[in-house]
Amino acid sequence: MRENLILLMPECELIKDSVLREKTIVVWEDAVREGSWTLEDLKEMPFTLLLEQTSINLIDHTRAVTLCSLHIAEVMEEVYDGRIPINKDYLLSGSILHDVGKLFEYTREGKKFVKSRSGNLLRHPISGAAFASKHDMPEEILHIIAAHSREGDGARRTVEAVIVNHADFVNFESLKI
Ligand SMILES: [Fe+2]
Repeated sequence: MRENLILLMPECELIKDSVLREKTIVVWEDAVREGSWTLEDLKEMPFTLLLEQTSINLIDHTRAVTLCSLHIAEVMEEVYDGRIPINKDYLLSGSILHDVGKLFEYTREGKKFVKSRSGNLLRHPISGAAFASKHDMPEEILHIIAAHSREGDGARRTVEAVIVNHADFVNFESLKI
């Protein structure tokens, strides 16, 4: 599955630290297995259940959020000339994993994706951070996952978490118009 996951999400290869890159891929792999999904399911899985209908799947959404995050970071680094330090490996890993909890938040009823029992108890930022924690991901990445949505509002986010939060909402709010 590993190679096919990388083919689906080539942005994994942008993580420079080989240990972090490998762990990021393993978290996705294990989440697919633990949620009893297949890679084909991922291509059909809507990135949100909050919109009546969307043709954007979870993989495309994750890739868009990851690339938006990276571009924001690159612009900030270039224009602010390093005055706002950004850890791009944390940013990439955190954005690739920000919605991995959706593999536990959803279940399938026939062709339809619906909220699972687990999803009603724990939203994906919580289940995703908890799952990544089992894989010894750095706390900076658990923070990005846990704080990427409204769970992080009102709390102090790291710069990487601020970027992923906004990149995620750009890729959600724009689709409601
Ligand atoms: Fe998202």
